[in-house]
Amino acid sequence: MKQQFQGTEGSHDWQHVERVWRTACHLQEIEGGDRIVVQLAALLHDISDHKLNGGELNAGGRVAKELLLQLGGSDQVAEQVAAIVDGVSFKGARVADEVSTLEGQIVQDADRLDAMGAIGIARAFAFGGARHRSLYDPAVAPQLHQTFESYAKAQGDTINHFHEKLLLLKDRLHTPTAQRIGEHRHAVMVKFLEDFHSEWDLRF
Ligand code: ADP
Ligand code: NI
Repeated sequence: MKQQFQGTEGSHDWQHVERVWRTACHLQEIEGGDRIVVQLAALLHDISDHKLNGGELNAGGRVAKELLLQLGGSDQVAEQVAAIVDGVSFKGARVADEVSTLEGQIVQDADRLDAMGAIGIARAFAFGGARHRSLYDPAVAPQLHQTFESYAKAQGDTINHFHEKLLLLKDRLHTPTAQRIGEHRHAVMVKFLEDFHSEWDLRF
């Protein structure tokens, strides 16, 4: 994974994967679940993300499973990890999450915590910058996407992304430990947006 993420921009780089891995380990220590499955799924969660693979939706599970089997992993572990990798991504404001196992919830929580707070803000602008998006365009309203397809095609400004995803994450965290950490990270984003709009509107 370290090799695969060489040279990628700051929103999705090896350090993101490593932070998700470490956060997932922390959550697992408190919340329980199978530590090996949690770690493998955290490490492989962005192995073929639609934002990085040219747009193919739901490819990650298949690619993760092939890799684990190739490395001598058991069918059972490869299947469990594949299901988590397929379920982990945010797919739109009005699209339900399908994560039923504790291990899946832990990995999704860890990935989402990394999209929130100070690091979440930094990652969002790194992502928008890499794709030459505006910081903010008051003429374009945020959309609450009904399908994964329309969410994946969205090209809006980066402030919109806070309303289309990042501010919704707090209420979609599963484990009590992640919910506690998420409260603070959510507040950091809310404060940032207040300051951003205050500066934009020249409220000195
Ligand atoms: P997910 O699989 O849930 O999308 P990832 O770990 O793959 O989670 O990365 C999501 C991160 O990518 C977001 O939290 C954000 O930092 C960045 N990102 C994705 N789409 C956008 C966007 N349209 N504008 C700004 N940042 C974005
Ligand atoms: Ni991720």
